Amino acid sequence: MTKHFLTGLELDQASVLSLLNLAKNIKQQPQEYNQALAGKSIVTLFEKPSLRTRVSFDIGINKLGGHAVYLDQQNGAMGSRESVKDFALNIATWADGLVARVNHHQTLETLATYSNVPVVNSLCDLYHPCQALADFLTLYEVYGDLAGLKIAYLGEGNNVTHSLMLLAATLGADFVAVCPKGHSPDAQIVKQAEQIAAVNGASVLISDRVEAAVGANVLYADTWVSMGNTTPLEQVKATFMPYQINQQLVENTGAQTILHCQPAHREFEITSEVMDGAKSKIIQQAENRMHAQNALLVSLLNKDYV
Ligand code: CP
Ligand code: NVA
Repeated sequence: MTKHFLTGLELDQASVLSLLNLAKNIKQQPQEYNQALAGKSIVTLFEKPSLRTRVSFDIGINKLGGHAVYLDQQNGAMGSRESVKDFALNIATWADGLVARVNHHQTLETLATYSNVPVVNSLCDLYHPCQALADFLTLYEVYGDLAGLKIAYLGEGNNVTHSLMLLAATLGADFVAVCPKGHSPDAQIVKQAEQIAAVNGASVLISDRVEAAVGANVLYADTWVSMGNTTPLEQVKATFMPYQINQQLVENTGAQTILHCQPAHREFEITSEVMDGAKSKIIQQAENRMHAQNALLVSLLNKDYV
């Protein structure tokens, strides 16, 4: 059966750890992997804008000796010129893999149903699993051990929150989402994360009180308004400002590490002082998108290197 990576739940703890180790190796010894995807072509398809994901997949695939074909929001507009099913059936005849950023998770499910080459989720409304792999690769580099870490996400409960929470649970890290009332993560996904966390001796907490982040090793921010939502940031500022990651919050919580998936809105969800400060690993985190994704692609497409 074709292996896909749609939610991140495809990987258990041992598989995630071996993927993170592979990512570290690829990062440290890139020359050993420069033929890992030789002769392979991967379509990267985007229904939404992107900087990090587009560029890190494209350059990453190139560094592995493979070839990336980019379909932009016009040419990757599934369902208008032809159906999602027909996109999958056609692309799978030429390509060895399909990386897709879509508006609705269901689109990925349909792509996976009709594609006999691996489909990778590079962001949808519910998940951003490639981001979470890069986040934990960064924490692995910083801390060495992931079990027992406490990670506090502040802001809107969204796709990034969901994937971070699920991977934290898988890896045995404690997770707290601190979100204003009415902006909590999806209840079903929280339940799923709680079940996974229980097996791995970790906890999941959802709170609207910023005090819940006290004692966290890591503070994590994302935009208050995700792609597809046209609400101006100014309009939600009053609701979300208490959840801003600023110097005061860093001091109050005692956190040592600051992460943000980017794109960042400076002086909204995070201040420049913190983003550019000594505890910020945000650029390392962005770099790690490429290494984590390369490990994922190698593990899906060339077992000889795993
Ligand atoms: N973090 C992230 O996915 O960035 P892009 O939207 O720029 O790809
Ligand atoms: N939650 C954000 C993440 C961007 C990488 C969004 O979906 O727009």
